[in-house]
This record gives sequence, structure tokens and C-alpha cells, in this order.
Amino acid sequence: MNAPVMQGLSLNTPSFVKNPRLIAWVADMVALCKPKDVYWCDGSEEEYQRLCQQLVDAGTFKKLNPAKRPNSFLACSDPSDVARVEDRTYICAEKKENAGPTNNWMAPAEMRKILESGQADGTPALFDGCMKGRTMYVVPFSMGPLGSHIAHIGIELSDSAYVAVNQRIMTRMGKAVYDVLGVDGAFVPCVHTVGAPLAEGQADVKWPCNKTKYIVHYPETREIWSYGSGYGGNALLGKKCFALRIASNMGRAASEGPSGSPGWLAEHMLILGVTNPEGKKYHVAAAFPSACGKTNFSMLVPPAGFEGWKVTTIGDDIAWIKPNADGKLYAINPEAGYFGVAPGTNFHTNPNCMASLDKNVIFTNVALTDDGDVWWEGMEKDTGGMPEHLIDWQGKDWTPAIAKETGAKAAHPNARFTVAAGNNPALDSQWDDANGVAIDAFIFGGRRSTTVPLVTEARNWTEGVYMAATMGSETTAAATGQAGIVRRDPFAMLPFMGYNMSDYFQHWLNMGDKLAKSGAKQPKIFTTNWFRKGDDGKFVWPGYGENMRVLKWMIDRIEGKVTGTETGFGVAPTYSEINWAGLDFSQAQFDSVTSLNKDDWKAEIALHTELFTQLAYHLPKELEETKTQLAQRLAA
Ligand code: OXD
Ligand code: MN
Repeated sequence: MNAPVMQGLSLNTPSFVKNPRLIAWVADMVALCKPKDVYWCDGSEEEYQRLCQQLVDAGTFKKLNPAKRPNSFLACSDPSDVARVEDRTYICAEKKENAGPTNNWMAPAEMRKILESGQADGTPALFDGCMKGRTMYVVPFSMGPLGSHIAHIGIELSDSAYVAVNQRIMTRMGKAVYDVLGVDGAFVPCVHTVGAPLAEGQADVKWPCNKTKYIVHYPETREIWSYGSGYGGNALLGKKCFALRIASNMGRAASEGPSGSPGWLAEHMLILGVTNPEGKKYHVAAAFPSACGKTNFSMLVPPAGFEGWKVTTIGDDIAWIKPNADGKLYAINPEAGYFGVAPGTNFHTNPNCMASLDKNVIFTNVALTDDGDVWWEGMEKDTGGMPEHLIDWQGKDWTPAIAKETGAKAAHPNARFTVAAGNNPALDSQWDDANGVAIDAFIFGGRRSTTVPLVTEARNWTEGVYMAATMGSETTAAATGQAGIVRRDPFAMLPFMGYNMSDYFQHWLNMGDKLAKSGAKQPKIFTTNWFRKGDDGKFVWPGYGENMRVLKWMIDRIEGKVTGTETGFGVAPTYSEINWAGLDFSQAQFDSVTSLNKDDWKAEIALHTELFTQLAYHLPKELEETKTQLAQRLAA
């Protein structure tokens, strides 16, 4: 392949890249961003090691002690760049109503002036020269198994080697993507810059970023532009930007043509397999908001009393779900790795995850031990005490005394690990299956100290959609902003919805209708809340592996072995329907996590009304009707 030359800079297009549209786009982006050179990633192990070493030399990475944590690195970010920036995230649909009231919106033409072409008052475009002095990495990736009919390709252009190495773990990244792309295959263009051009001779910093941040999606043209952050979902554009915000648009658009296709769903859901002692296997997809335990639930180890049961992981964060010819819904995990929250992870909360983190890991914003290993809050439960000394995520000395005096955390609360799915001892044998797995149940779970019961089952698909649509959750450190505030987080998708939320509810209702008409059994829909607190302010439900007790009740419902009991908010288990073997949990404790308080529910329904007022444009009438019925039941 010939190598176009841009302003004296050769694109160095490798011979394995054969797609003229891709080459022309890279040339345009080089002309705009003006990097010092272009590097086309091939995804090889040699390349990964070379880029990691380059990050070590630049001071971005610290190589961990190989005797403790082989082939693993620690990156510590700028203190201003530690989480997703929801207030800087835009859905730039042509029409504001198509982004909907839950998204930030700007007209695409206006946003393009800010990012690409410059403003009328002479303010230059943010991307103009944004990569000066840096390398532009061309990162080819597939979301979903390479070549699968469910998968889609993205190409991320980034001036961050940290992004390139993380993408190699989080996606199927490398040369083989170009074979699938061929000469005329489609890809989602993703442009990312840390927004920190380097002048001639200017020394770099360890974690370049910019105070100004923009995470921008153009749903109609299916493009992603990200400026100013090097962190997580702001920068690894295959994850939230592509696999949720753009993919949700793709899934709905597929239902709009003359084909009569129901389209598909892009969801913020883990996917797990659960096998009973008789060897019968079920698949469950569960939506919990960020940092509410999706990774833990997807790797759950059944507790004492559940001998012969097995839980296996298909995915821990995102599911793409499509109806198949047999009428059932099939799910794949579009990712290839886990970008999980480290603090709180230990051998009690998630032993499989701890085993996954033994080697070949990139840690971000955890603390460094004196012997060159990593540490985060929660690990003291494994070792029976705090370490005497650490270097915290900001590079400062940390001791238990300093922590007591100043409240300093050794690891940032949103500190993360990036690790390949292949490291997980509980990995499901079908995790990479191009056809996905048939879903038997959906779970929607928020983090609520009060009001919402431990588990309940929707009486039908519409009630399930209502429960998911009105879900509330206390905010966490996964996004910038105050943690611990209850906000409505429909389907755990509030920060990830790529179009109008009410149209999304309608898409779910339509999907249910089409499943019913096909004669296929609809998956059951459950809600959970592991986080109810007692009068002492402590969690009542033990959570983690003990959540197996709730999962088994769900399987029993699917198999028709238990009837549950009708409540104002769906069908709930009775105390005797749960397997309590191996756990001391009294009827009184059970009542305290399952009870429905009339006053709490009056206030809760008022919040649903508030949400529906906000979402009035295109809100499906079935949801209003369900609310009326629910309010009557809960008041009775
Ligand atoms: C994540 C998130 O990183 O939801 O998965 O914030
Ligand atoms: Mn997530």
C-alpha cells in the first residue's frame, strides 16, 4: 500500500491496512491533530512490552516487583483526571429531542466548530494541533469476537500509549482486525487526545491531560471524539462511548428498517452462567450502576450450603443482546477484559478476581507497597491489618497514622485494574462464543439504603421495564461529582444512553412484544438491592457470595419450584423459599431487607412521577399505567 505524505509526515501505512476510507480518515486526522509521527498498532506481545517499557521510561508506569506481580504495572493519574466526566459528555444528535433530557446536547455543527474547525470569534479548534510533539497511535479493535455477526469494529486514534496498551487488554486489538475490515468494511471512527501538545523541546509530564474536557458522540454519523482526559471510559473509547452510547443507537436503528427486525440491545450488564448440581445451566444478565458490584456478582463463588453449584463469567460490564432465529435473546460480551474498581476487592468479596490479578495487570491509582507490589483499601481484611507504610496514589507517604489524622486514602476510591478475561479462573467456556448465550433472566439492581427490597420479580415484561426504568441508586466514585446521592438511573444506563431515554424504554417494550409474538419464552425480570441498611447504619444483607441465595431463588422461579408471594412491588420470596444452609440470617433480618414501608413508597412513587415528568416526550403510556397500578397496590 502506498504511503500518503501529510505536510512532510509519512503516514507509514503498513501493508496489512487495505481500507482506503480508513487511510483517508487517518490522513485527515493527522492534518488536523498534527502529531510528530503515526504508529499503527499490530497488537503483538512484542509491541505491548515495548509500549509498556516506553511508559516506564516516561514515568507514567512503574513496573511492579516481578516476584510479587509478574509483568504488571502501576500508573498514577493526574489528581484532576480520576473518573468519567458525565457533565462533559455530549450526545450531539441533529435534534435535541433525540438526545433526550438526560443527556448533554449541542448541535453537531456547533460542536464541530469547537472541536474541529474553529469558532467565529477566532477561537481555534481544540483538535487543531492537539497532538503536536506526540505520536498518534492507530488502534484497531473489535467489540465482540473477531468476525462474529454480532461484533463491530472501531479504530481509535489516540496520542496516549497508555490507551493503546489498555485497549489491547480490553478489546480484541491488532492486525487481525484489518483482515476482517478488508477493503470496504465499516468501522466506528474514534479520535482521542489528552489535549496536551508539546512545544519543541518541552518536557512531558507523567500523566498529560487538560482541564478542558469533551467526550462527544455523533449518533447519526457514528463518530466519537474525546478531548482532555486519559482516564478509563473517557479515553478507552471502545467501552462506554462505543459499546454503549453508539451501540445503543445501532441496536435501535436496526429495528427501524422495513425488515421488521426487532433490532438489538446494548446494555450496561454483566453476563453470567449458573449451573446447578444436576448440570443444568442458566444465563443471567444483570444491570447494576457503576461500582455497585457487577464484577463481584459475575465472578461469584457459591458459599457453604451450595455444594455442586457453579457460577461462570461471560462478561462483567457490557452486554450486546440480540434475538436469534429460535426467538430467544442471545448475549455476547463485546469486551475482552475487565476495567474493574480495585478498592473493596479482596479474597472475601471476590476471590476469583483476586486470582485474576496475580499477573499481567495494569493498575491505575492504587497504592505502592515498599516491596514493589500494590495495595488498596479492603486488602487489610485478607492480611489482618494495615501495612505500615505505602506510597499513595498521589505519590505521597501513607501510614495508618497519617490516614487516621488526615483521612487520606492510599488508593483513589475509583482506582482500577485492567486485566484480560483470560486471567479469570471462573471464565465461562462460552464467553468468546460468536453466537452468545441464551438469556433466561434479567436483573436490575440499585444501591439503596432504604425502601427497595432485597429481591422481587416483575409480574410481566412491562412491569419489569417499569422497575428498570424507575430504578434509583446512590452515586459512587466512578463518576466525578458527589457520591452517595440517590438519583434515578434507568436500566443503570443514565450515563451511557446514546439517545432519548423514553425511546429506549419503548425499544425494550417493543422487544418484549416481538419475543412474545415469536412464541419464545421471555426472560424473567427481577430487581435486587443488596444495600439496605439497618438502624445502626450497617448493611443487613451480607452480600458477595451470599447473593447466591437470591440467585438460586431466581432459578427456582424459572424452574417453577417456588411460588413466591405477591407484594405491592412484584413477587418476592418467602423466608422459607431461600436456602439458608451455612448462613445465620434470621426471619427478623430477612423482614428488615424485604419490607415495604408505605411512607417510603409514597415518597418513592413521587420520585417516579418526577422522572416521568422529565421524560414526558415519547414516554410509553404503558409505563404511566403501570405506575398507577403500582401506586394503588403500594398504598393498599
Ligand atoms: C465502568 C463504569 O468503568 O461503569 O464500568 O464506570
Ligand atoms: Mn460500568
